[in-house]
Amino acid sequence: MPIPNIIAIDGPAASGKSTLGKRIADSLGYLFFDTGVMYRAVTWGALQRGIAIGDEAVVTRLAESAQIDVRPPSKDDGRACDVLLDGADITWETRRPEVDANVSPVSAYRGVRQALASQQRRIGLRGRVVMVGRDIGTVVLPEADLKVYLDASAEERARRRYEEIRQRGEEADYEAILAGVRRRDEIDSTRAHSPLTAAADAVVLDSDQLNADEVFARVEAICR
Ligand code: DC
Repeated sequence: MPIPNIIAIDGPAASGKSTLGKRIADSLGYLFFDTGVMYRAVTWGALQRGIAIGDEAVVTRLAESAQIDVRPPSKDDGRACDVLLDGADITWETRRPEVDANVSPVSAYRGVRQALASQQRRIGLRGRVVMVGRDIGTVVLPEADLKVYLDASAEERARRRYEEIRQRGEEADYEAILAGVRRRDEIDSTRAHSPLTAAADAVVLDSDQLNADEVFARVEAICR
């Protein structure tokens, strides 16, 4: 079997998709594209402009007009990519707790999804790409040559987020993080437009059972 040209990785928040996607992309010399950062960029832009997150029409207009660029990392500060909003580097702003708290409702808006998914599809169709998100194998690139759905329990995912925040030297509250993970899972998987779900032809892996190296080894073995 030839090496898959378009690789889609989907799964819930903090399941290890980005770590896996980045490693696979580096190993194959492919572009790594984490689509969640686009929803985060719109959310940060809305918060900064004082737009009410509940105002679907205004948030959608912002998603349609904003210039979002996702580029290879320009700094060695732990970032997987640069995220630019209208030319400004907002990479770390997209990781703020207020973005975590508001990104699920923003990503549930149909018009926001249409605006961002069409940009993602255009980039994905160029090939030699590992695209990571919630709906890549089901909606954005259903023709992907390899689809992976990476799952993990809410407790394990909250534990990882907690460790990540602590490693950055910041305070973290495990119970609050777990509640946030559960709330986002609920919104992401029950929304009307492209809810989080595994494609019928996806390889499903559970990262509660496998560590990051094992997940990578499995997917790499499928690719090669
Ligand atoms: O993967 P992440 O935590 O950075 O994603 C942020 C939010 O964006 C999350 O609530 C789900 C949403 N998202 C989406 O709906 N579709 C995608 N392809 C990627 C992310």
